[in-house]
Amino acid sequence: MIKILFFGDVYAAPGRTLIAEKAKALKEEFSVDLLIANGENLAGGKGLTEKTAGELFRADIDVLTGGNHLWAKAPGLDYIKRDRRVLKPLNYPAEAYGNTVFQCSIRDVDIAVLCMTGQGLMPNADSPLHCLERELLKIKAKIILIDFHAEYTGEKRAMGFYFDGKVSAFIGTHTHVQTADEEILPKGTAYITDVGMTGAHDSVIGVKKEIILHTMKTGMPLMYKPAKTGLQVNAVLISFDQHTGRAVSIERIKRSYS
Ligand SMILES: [Fe+2]
Ligand SMILES: [Fe+2]
Repeated sequence: MIKILFFGDVYAAPGRTLIAEKAKALKEEFSVDLLIANGENLAGGKGLTEKTAGELFRADIDVLTGGNHLWAKAPGLDYIKRDRRVLKPLNYPAEAYGNTVFQCSIRDVDIAVLCMTGQGLMPNADSPLHCLERELLKIKAKIILIDFHAEYTGEKRAMGFYFDGKVSAFIGTHTHVQTADEEILPKGTAYITDVGMTGAHDSVIGVKKEIILHTMKTGMPLMYKPAKTGLQVNAVLISFDQHTGRAVSIERIKRSYS
């Protein structure tokens, strides 16, 4: 059995601190082989830098998946170009900085991790369906995990069914709100519409709620600041049969620390 723990969008300093303090203990508790986190919100809530990514790698995170906010911090751009553990969405332009496929081998089982963005209420990108279909012809791995970073629940669900049996896990991110629909799809793919957010949940998807409410009431924007309270780790633990590459179980994790 191969076990992967995937953390939903790690938001700003509160999210990074949660990973720094809890990831190694969770790795041990669940005997995890590979740790993945969505890292598009690491630095101040948008983008990532070498320093903020380094904090997660030091906490035993093996791969960081991206999303629409990946390139939001100018000082992080050269770093994203260099570090192959940081993934950009597969369906973004080739010119966008970042690696698209992370591959490793655990106990002689080849594993591939990719991410891609949806098309509803998201920046323009190529069709994730066609991009992944083409990419799967090239990838030689027993276990393939996809982080599908998208807004619409329907798009995520439909894509999950499309890739059922073609990938080992099809995991949703981006909304920062965990959904209670984790399951193994009929052909053996682990699925959840959204893993949620690792960070401060006494907030509007990570941002101090007073800031968002002020903007709603007045129409005048304020600079976003990360909230600090209501700390939660949101993640999924997925077990895979190493001979077939199929998912055996998916467990939703939602732990509060304040
Ligand atoms: Fe996010
Ligand atoms: Fe996002």
